[in-house]
Amino acid sequence: MRETVHVPLGTRAYDVVIGPGLMAEAGTFIAPMLPRPRVAVVTESRVAALHLAALERGLSAAGIDCVALELPPGESTKSWTYLSQVTEWLLDQKIERRDVVVALGGGVIGDLVGFACAILRRGVRFVQLPTSLLAQVDSSVGGKTGINTAQGKNLAGAFHQPSLVLADTDMLASLAPRDFLAGYGEVMKYGLLGDAAFFSWLEDNAPAMAAGDVGMRVSAVKRSVEMKADIVTRDETEQGDRALLNLGHTFCHALEAATGYSQRLLHGEGVAIGCGLAFELSARLGLCSQEDPSRVRAHLKAMGLKTDLSDVPGELPDARGLLDLMGQDKKVVAGTLNFILARGIGEAFVTSDVPPDTVIAVLEDALRAR
Ligand SMILES: NC(=O)c1ccc[n+]([C@@H]2O[C@H](COP(=O)([O-])OP(=O)(O)OC[C@H]3O[C@@H](n4cnc5c(N)ncnc54)[C@H](O)[C@@H]3O)[C@@H](O)[C@H]2O)c1
Repeated sequence: MRETVHVPLGTRAYDVVIGPGLMAEAGTFIAPMLPRPRVAVVTESRVAALHLAALERGLSAAGIDCVALELPPGESTKSWTYLSQVTEWLLDQKIERRDVVVALGGGVIGDLVGFACAILRRGVRFVQLPTSLLAQVDSSVGGKTGINTAQGKNLAGAFHQPSLVLADTDMLASLAPRDFLAGYGEVMKYGLLGDAAFFSWLEDNAPAMAAGDVGMRVSAVKRSVEMKADIVTRDETEQGDRALLNLGHTFCHALEAATGYSQRLLHGEGVAIGCGLAFELSARLGLCSQEDPSRVRAHLKAMGLKTDLSDVPGELPDARGLLDLMGQDKKVVAGTLNFILARGIGEAFVTSDVPPDTVIAVLEDALRAR
């Protein structure tokens, strides 16, 4: 039960290998890349306690030595402070231009370590070992790396593709159910943005996948990675089509800003609610049928995911306040808000042609239901 998705980016091409048991074989996969049998692993303490020993065994089985750095878990680790700590630690470990750095963790570690590798000696190769569902289906693939600054999320970063991604689906078994479901928000997004048959498959099979079915987990991660790889290959640096991956994200970013990027709302939960709102907006604009937003919301509810604004605990700004927060999104171009809308399930497109009054009306209705 092993799948490989190739990301064909010319000199920056790489494979994403998906399946159970990959941690034990990590050394076999990584050894051919190494000029000397030694890697530096950067991880965070929660993941390290669960999975670092298995990785070390997998590396040593192939004769690879490793040194490891453990950082604190959580979004606040994606910061200048830890970027400099990681970079200087890698230099202290004498990591050279041709060595390989391993990022073991969720999206936080992948983004931070990828950025450190982008700037270390003007670019060192790195291998992503994504341990969260979100990281396996989204952040480990595509080469966006970065950190947060006082001004906002992901505002400093670089495009730096990994040299290999090993998505060991066994890692998902130790995820907290809420983190698993948040990652599922991104899985479902792929169906909604470009593959109606995948969305139908998820409607039938995602409950079993969430309950632990390994074959279904491998299938869902593979289809998500294929779709991400396809879009990234068409538009590596987000000049056009890559923005489709932001379905639900304009609403999500406003909600994340309104909730202070806290445990009140995880990113994938915001994406789930945002997808529902993007379909509602599409229906209001006459682009898709009214059944589509209902179907999206029914699936979110069936999965136990946050679905409506009423599922976000605590106060939220009013509709105009939320629209203002959308205006601060970094994907605003020349002051124009871009939305990803849909002509139906699996048929998303990018547009800046959205009347603000309609957005306000959708948000007012959603807030009224709270
Ligand atoms: N680069 C990209 O293209 C991209 C895309 C989407 C999101 N992101 C970024 O990804 C980050 C979110 O990623 P995330 O949700 O993985 O966050 P995360 O790395 O904080 O992981 C979420 C939680 O799960 C825990 N965890 C991770 N793997 C685990 C495992 N196997 N078992 C038990 N617990 C585990 C972590 O300790 C953490 O508490 C954000 O910073 C976001 O900006 C980047």
